[in-house]
Amino acid sequence: MKIFAEYGEAYRIEMLAPDNWHNHFRQKDDPRFRPTVAYIASQFARANAMGNTVPPITTAEQIVQYRRDIEEAATEAGFPNFEPLMVLMMTPDTTPEMVTSAFNAGAYGLKIMPANVTTHSSHGIVDYKAKLFRDCLRVARSQRKPALFHAEVVDPSISVQDREQLFIPILSDIREEFPNLPICVEHISDADMVQFVMNADSYVSATVTPHHMEVVEADAQHDVHLQCMPYPKQMKDVEAVRFAAFTHPRFFYGSDNAPHLRPTKEREHPSPASGVFTAPVELSVLVELFERYRQLEKLEAFLSERGARWHGVRQNKGEVTLHREPWVVPDVIDLGDGNEIVPYKHGHTLNWRLADCLRLGQPT
Ligand code: DOR
Ligand code: ZN
Repeated sequence: MKIFAEYGEAYRIEMLAPDNWHNHFRQKDDPRFRPTVAYIASQFARANAMGNTVPPITTAEQIVQYRRDIEEAATEAGFPNFEPLMVLMMTPDTTPEMVTSAFNAGAYGLKIMPANVTTHSSHGIVDYKAKLFRDCLRVARSQRKPALFHAEVVDPSISVQDREQLFIPILSDIREEFPNLPICVEHISDADMVQFVMNADSYVSATVTPHHMEVVEADAQHDVHLQCMPYPKQMKDVEAVRFAAFTHPRFFYGSDNAPHLRPTKEREHPSPASGVFTAPVELSVLVELFERYRQLEKLEAFLSERGARWHGVRQNKGEVTLHREPWVVPDVIDLGDGNEIVPYKHGHTLNWRLADCLRLGQPT
């Protein structure tokens, strides 16, 4: 990583092309799909393609088709080398054979979403002790593939503030039966969970979003566009997540970029859709955040190295350059045909911009 500075202030950064280990593109023919692929592929050499689409990605055939759709959209946007990272969405009916086929089709892991925890999760897991579910985890363990957990209990009588920490016993129980199963706690948000991951051995990691590094519960109550699951927590949690992102080798980037059209976010009934549309601003926001806390030299590890290392894949070859150039994030992004979407940091001035002289993912 090269940081160019003048009079003690950085003005240009060059670093290894980054990875985004948690992201939602939505599906082909959805107005959110192509713009989201373009934003993500312009910043990342590889990004995860979460499969909570409609219908969800639950078979090897769907994985192959979904990857093709994303690659086509990325190529159309000018990023032919962009690599989608595919996962299999687990349902109560997923069998070990389906898991094996998905891995053979190139899925790198299993996504475990509790049923009805958030957007399009009705097909999710209900019983973590079910034999079929445990048999699927056994396949993942034997193939050294990770289980990627949306780690929240879903009981509506439990406050959103407590839902992640109450998932710790479920993870502990799974770890007891499968100590060698790689587990990633997705979009980590709670200080107790941060401690759990830090105290665990090298089989356990976590992804960190930009918003869980700075948004607290009160912010989300004032701006519906900051509402997501897991719901933003308290300052002590945000500080724990941020500290882990800055310092710990098993915490790496996964934005949980989750586009929702404006009316579904701004409605009152049913309650607003959960998810933050970070795609247009991700690298700018991260540079700014790491710079603010004087951790800029840690950004490349967080974005481009730790995730690849934990997942056991090669690091990217391309490079990305950002320069200091203030710009104002639009209040609303027009996706065409009257479809509007409100991005993270809407109306804010950001100080860093992606240099358009380099294209990501091109071999150096
Ligand atoms: O807030 C969220 N939105 N959390 C998730 O886990 C899913 C995501 C979505 O797909 O919109
Ligand atoms: Zn997600």
